[in-house]
Amino acid sequence: MASQENPFVFGEIIDDVNFVNRTDELNQLVRDLADGQKVFLLSPRRFGKSSLVAVALLKLKKRHIRTVSLTVSSYASYAQFLEKFAEKVLRAAGPWERVKDWVKRFARQVNPEVNYNMTTQEINLSLGKGAGFDPTPIAPDVFALPGELTKNAGFRMAICLDEFQQISQFNSGSVENAIRNQVQEQRDVGYVFAGSQPSLMEEMLSAKRPFHKAGPQMFLDKIPATDWKDFITRHFRKRGRTLEEQGLETLLASADLIPYDVQRIAHELWDYAELKDKRQLDASDVNSVIDTLVTAQSTYQELLWEQLSPRQRATLQALAHRGASEIYSQGVREQFRLGPASTVQKALQSLDSRDILGRYKGNYFFLDPLFPCWIRKKGA
Ligand SMILES: Nc1ncnc2c1ncn2[C@@H]1O[C@H](COP(=O)(O)OP(=O)(O)OP(=O)(O)O)[C@@H](O)[C@H]1O
Ligand SMILES: [Mg+2]
Repeated sequence: MASQENPFVFGEIIDDVNFVNRTDELNQLVRDLADGQKVFLLSPRRFGKSSLVAVALLKLKKRHIRTVSLTVSSYASYAQFLEKFAEKVLRAAGPWERVKDWVKRFARQVNPEVNYNMTTQEINLSLGKGAGFDPTPIAPDVFALPGELTKNAGFRMAICLDEFQQISQFNSGSVENAIRNQVQEQRDVGYVFAGSQPSLMEEMLSAKRPFHKAGPQMFLDKIPATDWKDFITRHFRKRGRTLEEQGLETLLASADLIPYDVQRIAHELWDYAELKDKRQLDASDVNSVIDTLVTAQSTYQELLWEQLSPRQRATLQALAHRGASEIYSQGVREQFRLGPASTVQKALQSLDSRDILGRYKGNYFFLDPLFPCWIRKKGA
């Protein structure tokens, strides 16, 4: 059989062809952004926020809404973030003829260096140079830009600020204030603020902080098992292979239904089947693939393990063997020598802040679902 491209993709933003489920979330997000709402999209890491936003923006673009997407964590400084924000907004609102008046006005106020490349239509902006440059005073003008450009322009905009929890690293309260004050004026501009650390995002949305009640919140759930089963079965079948029900169950359970990990294990299973040219795949094949993945990252996990305190290790062992719902029970605490419930709670919190655990629907879970596999293997 001639080789075929692996259809399971992870670590990249998923395009609309391979997008599983999320129909309701997608419709809701598209509607809200088209309406000019300010939406807060929250979930733990790797649940599919960026992919959802990418597909939503694509749909909006087809409706002639101008779209802009920035990942806050990509920028090293506040000034750089503001420059990129302005550049991308200007580019989306372009052509140059349309934005040049605004650029001139803006230039009079804040004196940036603006370069426009006629051939590529790229605008490059520098707000000020030197490590000591403080962009705080001009930030409101920059965040006002989408509103200025859409005013009487006959088009709407949708802007995504991804990894939004990182915004506070720039300049704590004042960035949040500056953004909030400007965006609430912009009726023709929808915003989606997506954040990977729900605890930080929730703090940002709490009372007394600028974004409190600024717009609807959307919590992204896991994708249901049945949708994954259809998706995985369909791709294997197209290749003339079948994956037994038990194998599917093993795959989804090992991935803890986290989209990234479902795709990652399915990807490996695909390569494994290609290599062996195996038509019938079952749970033992899935286990063998998971074993390979766990072994491949064991050096990293060994290092991580060594950095943990005995209490943290015991808590993780208990979690890996008995799951989250029983972690505080007397039986589990005794078996794993965890001490009183308050100590367990502290250990769990510290593992959460180290990004080893996350929280989903009130329970702690392993952000990397292969880590508990490694822990079980190690203790066996
Ligand atoms: N709807 C989907 N259909 C299929 N696969 C998906 C879907 N959503 C996410 N995935 C898988 O999960 C991976 C991670 O998705 P994505 O990067 O969108 O998540 P994220 O929540 O933005 O993660 P992070 O918090 O790390 O930025 C994707 O590369 C893809 O493999
Ligand atoms: Mg993301």
